[in-house]
Amino acid sequence: VQQTSALRDEIIRLKGERDAVILAHNYQIPDVQDVADFVGDSLGLARQAARTGSKVIVFCGVHFMAETASIISPDKRILIPSLEAGCSLSDTITAEDLRQWKGRHPDAIAVGYVNTTAEVKAELDYCCTSSNAVSVVQAIPADREILFLPDMFLGSYVSKMTGRKNMYIWAGECHVHAGITPDDVKRKLDSMREAEFMIHPECGCTTPIMYDVASGRFAGENLHVLSTEGMMRHAKESKSRNFVVATETGILHRMRKQNPGKNFAAASDQAECRYMKMITLEGVRDSLARDRFEVKVPPETADRARLAIERMLAIS
Ligand code: 13P
Ligand code: SF4
Repeated sequence: VQQTSALRDEIIRLKGERDAVILAHNYQIPDVQDVADFVGDSLGLARQAARTGSKVIVFCGVHFMAETASIISPDKRILIPSLEAGCSLSDTITAEDLRQWKGRHPDAIAVGYVNTTAEVKAELDYCCTSSNAVSVVQAIPADREILFLPDMFLGSYVSKMTGRKNMYIWAGECHVHAGITPDDVKRKLDSMREAEFMIHPECGCTTPIMYDVASGRFAGENLHVLSTEGMMRHAKESKSRNFVVATETGILHRMRKQNPGKNFAAASDQAECRYMKMITLEGVRDSLARDRFEVKVPPETADRARLAIERMLAIS
């Protein structure tokens, strides 16, 4: 405990000396969330990166998120405490894959989830996150074909919500969310009969749970498909006391901290993103003390990727 508080003190001192801000994703370990200036979802972190007046951003999340910050704020120094913090979902598509896909559908509009590399974003017309994917797709004229990438579960959810038939969806998935099974969910919901159910649209079980009548009870008002920040808002505003949460388990720390008196259970305790957990308090300290590891997107890629991100920010 003492070591943690000493590290925290050191981080706070270094942050002041370097005019830095610490941004952390909702899936970060509790110690990192607690030392951050802002904790949020991909969209919230992108907005904070754009807004901050600090010269240095220590990005506690995965690599594509730090790249997004670099694209939005090219004049700031973006540091990530571990270069190993990748994302299995963003790894499912390369810029070359996307160029070839676009070549087969030359008139389509390419909409890509924020979980993509900067090179892929540079090929997109629109970027989106889990909290605004439906609005972004709705903003595209109905007669235009859409290439949606890379998450197939988010894509199929957006297609259902918008009623869009002319959407081609890339067959990518996140191993953490795809790993939460309908059986995990059913077991947890059976053990918390009064619970509301919050589910991230990257979950492979979103579609069967929403549309399979066998799970009847949850196709109605107790089911909420939300981004991680949407979950945070719902947990606060809802009158319910019990919640089952289908996403990465790191979010439970902030949920419990901000909502004493309410109960939150993970749909699956195995739903841990090993990439997100590569960021440690020691890593944050070293990042500030040794000025490492810089994430800098080359200007020509960043300029093209920025257009897709700015179109998204204008819509949401
Ligand atoms: P959110 O935008 O909902 O935070 O999701 C990002 C992510 O990586 C989910 O796995
Ligand atoms: Fe990527 Fe999945 Fe980890 Fe999110 S939880 S960062 S989508 S691997």
